[in-house]
Amino acid sequence: MKTIGLIGAGRIGGQLARLAVANGYDVVISNSRGPETLAPLVAELGPRARAATAVDAAKAGDIVVVTVPLKNYRAVPVAPLAGKIVIDTNNYYPDRDGHIPELDDESTTTAELLQAHLPASKVVKAFNHIYAAELTTHGQPAGTPDRRALVIAGDDPQAKAVVSKLIDQFGFDTVDAGPLKEGWRIQRDTPGYGPRRTAAELKKDLAAAKRYAEMRKA
Ligand SMILES: NC(=O)c1ccc[n+]([C@@H]2O[C@H](COP(=O)([O-])OP(=O)(O)OC[C@H]3O[C@@H](n4cnc5c(N)ncnc54)[C@H](OP(=O)(O)O)[C@@H]3O)[C@@H](O)[C@H]2O)c1
Repeated sequence: MKTIGLIGAGRIGGQLARLAVANGYDVVISNSRGPETLAPLVAELGPRARAATAVDAAKAGDIVVVTVPLKNYRAVPVAPLAGKIVIDTNNYYPDRDGHIPELDDESTTTAELLQAHLPASKVVKAFNHIYAAELTTHGQPAGTPDRRALVIAGDDPQAKAVVSKLIDQFGFDTVDAGPLKEGWRIQRDTPGYGPRRTAAELKKDLAAAKRYAEMRKA
């Protein structure tokens, strides 16, 4: 695994590109406005980085990160991502994304929507509950006591193992929430969403998470 493709190069995409380059990966970044608009970020990232279209970033990546406003997930190219591990950082904010009925009624979750859009890819939910700025400031070497942990969820154990290793390289422990359908346990407004947490704390947060319908009743 040598190249990480990024579809989305905003707050989270930019930070993940910085971490990837710092850890020796090549990155191919993309956005909606075109590669030329990413020249300043490419210049900052240096020779391991280039900008491309979303299709080319999808083709180039051994692993590809989808980190766009959720409302745009259907624009993510499907064919070039077949067979690949796809990291999904996305969250649902109706004020930004508009209402998505199957998320409002909680019959699915954000990462399952992306998995349904990319049926031949191995989607792993990750990096959705940490503020972008903290990605490059909260990481610590493996074995550091009280190291910060990040949640993953996914249906493919091998893909989750690869993403856990990447997260470890980036400076964080990992807590596996289970299959994609359990990803709601780290969605917006759950206890683990946002604050700095160790693995032990995050496990408790995942267990204590409530569905929105349950929260509305309380
Ligand atoms: N910000 C955080 O702290 C944070 C933390 C965890 C998770 N998240 C989640 O991660 C996702 C990204 O958040 P963000 O804060 O990084 O957003 P952002 O700063 O608004 O960046 C979004 C990026 O996606 C690109 N994009 C939009 N539509 C696209 C498309 N159709 N094809 C290719 N690229 C496209 C944008 O490109 P253009 O600028 O050219 O349109 C931009 O580079 C969201 O779902 C968010 O909820 C955010």
